[in-house]
Amino acid sequence: MKMIIATIKPFKLEDVREALTGIGVRGMMVTEIKGFGAQAGHTEIYRGAEYSVNFLPKVKLEIVVGADMAEQVVETIAKTANTGKIGDGKIFVLDVESALRVRTGETNEDAI
Ligand SMILES: Nc1ncnc2c1ncn2[C@@H]1O[C@H](COP(=O)(O)OP(=O)(O)O)[C@@H](O)[C@H]1O
Ligand SMILES: [Mg+2]
Repeated sequence: MKMIIATIKPFKLEDVREALTGIGVRGMMVTEIKGFGAQAGHTEIYRGAEYSVNFLPKVKLEIVVGADMAEQVVETIAKTANTGKIGDGKIFVLDVESALRVRTGETNEDAI
């Protein structure tokens, strides 16, 4: 299994969720975060200046899928979240050691 951690622009969340469920993703975690990338937040604009100049609001997605699906998930997020402008986000892929569905006791790929 792999975990895909992606930061996206908040307004892209609904499109990305829809695209991911469309390819068979069945669960994800979504967190509102603040962060910065190469531009350190300086040249991005987000609804005025209510935020600390160095940090901009992003949405973080965490998605665990079978290893065979990871590439498709990455491509789908990359394609859907892309605006071509700075701050479009980043995608990281990590190995996942185990998973457990609490209700049934199912493990690993059966649990996701
Ligand atoms: N090296 C990194 N490690 C962890 N998170 C990162 C990293 N780079 C970017 N991020 C996260 O991704 C968000 C979007 O980054 P982005 O501005 O698109 O990257 P860049 O400016 O480097 O192209 C940041 O707000 C931050 O939350
Ligand atoms: Mg940036």
